Amino acid sequence: MTDVELTVYPDSCDAFGHLNQASVLTLFERARWDLIGRGPGTDLFRRHGVWPAVRRAELDYQSPAFPGDVLQFDVEVLHRGRTSFSMRQVARQKESKAIVADGTFTFVLIDATGKPVPIPEGVAQGFRQAGIILPAERITVNGVGLVVERWGSGTPVLFLHGFPLDRSLWRPLEDRLSALSGIAPDLRGFGDSDAPDVGYSMATYARDMIALLDTLKIESVVLCGLSMGGYIAFEMLRQARNRVQGLILISTQATPDDQASQSTRDRMATSIRERGVEVLSETMLPLLLGHLGNDQPGSLQPIVRDVIDRTPLAGALGALIALRDRPDSRPLLPTLEGLPTLVLGGALDRITPPPVIEGLASEIPGAEFEIMEGVGHLGPIEDPDQTAHLVGEFLGVRNETNNPI
Ligand code: MLT
Repeated sequence: MTDVELTVYPDSCDAFGHLNQASVLTLFERARWDLIGRGPGTDLFRRHGVWPAVRRAELDYQSPAFPGDVLQFDVEVLHRGRTSFSMRQVARQKESKAIVADGTFTFVLIDATGKPVPIPEGVAQGFRQAGIILPAERITVNGVGLVVERWGSGTPVLFLHGFPLDRSLWRPLEDRLSALSGIAPDLRGFGDSDAPDVGYSMATYARDMIALLDTLKIESVVLCGLSMGGYIAFEMLRQARNRVQGLILISTQATPDDQASQSTRDRMATSIRERGVEVLSETMLPLLLGHLGNDQPGSLQPIVRDVIDRTPLAGALGALIALRDRPDSRPLLPTLEGLPTLVLGGALDRITPPPVIEGLASEIPGAEFEIMEGVGHLGPIEDPDQTAHLVGEFLGVRNETNNPI
């Protein structure tokens, strides 16, 4: 974007009247702060207990500038790492559009002790407010690149989205649950993650998640799975129970597909092969949302449709096979005794209605159970306040419900 304009003053120029090379660096820095100042405010970093330290600066000086010239500054984030990001800034003459200088800067976010820290989601959101898009982190596990969104600090919670959605399902909870350490990946075949042609099953999704925890060096987590995310949570418990310190199941079930549901999955796969993934939103939107699923103003339909329509074809087809062939998780439930568990459902859910949720909760010894009023299948986006409140209370963390999304 080209929001920032700065004037070249004589005190920034050398004896020949050219904009001095060191002053160009200063102008780039001022342009960055101006942009942040106009968006989230220059205290953005301090609010999140971090500070951006320049680790590397590369400048390509392309043409001179003189006192009185007005320069425009474009900015674009090229790469996001766990604790760092690189940003390209281009300074152009406002009149002629000639490039004066083209710079790439790598920043590391550090805390008060100088230690690199993961980029807080609040900083990424502040950047968005300033028109700077910070791409999500990309982590390769089992040969597949997964895009992962992380925020907060505290108890690590791995958020597993449902079908056919992506990590954005959890975004409304991020500020509300900043007192925990959220990890929200796009599963393989969804959102911005890679979508291999083959290799989809609940066991594979679970293996990816365990490998992700290994890569992030996280020993154990609370699992929070919605619908298909719950099926994956069950699978993770079968594969690596020692990595799970708590369980939150939202709008999910332990029963496998019966024959009729398996045939529906096969028909759905044929339709999306013939007509594209858009068929999924036609079929699923009316089922996913409660009263916010209508076509009234404020409806969540367009937002959820966009997410569904972005699902890669291979990922959607693979997930349908994984859903169709998922194992029966009912035998696992009595063995979960001693694992702190919360089961949530939506009063208006048509996919896993309240009796299904209640049945699930009753089979897990000691599980807490709550039905959210006014909510369909997608509590985290339909009623983030209520969802964050229940999750926060279960985990004993304070919710920041006053923060804007
Ligand atoms: C989901 O939301 O993940 C799906 O409804 C799960 C399913 O179709 O079984």
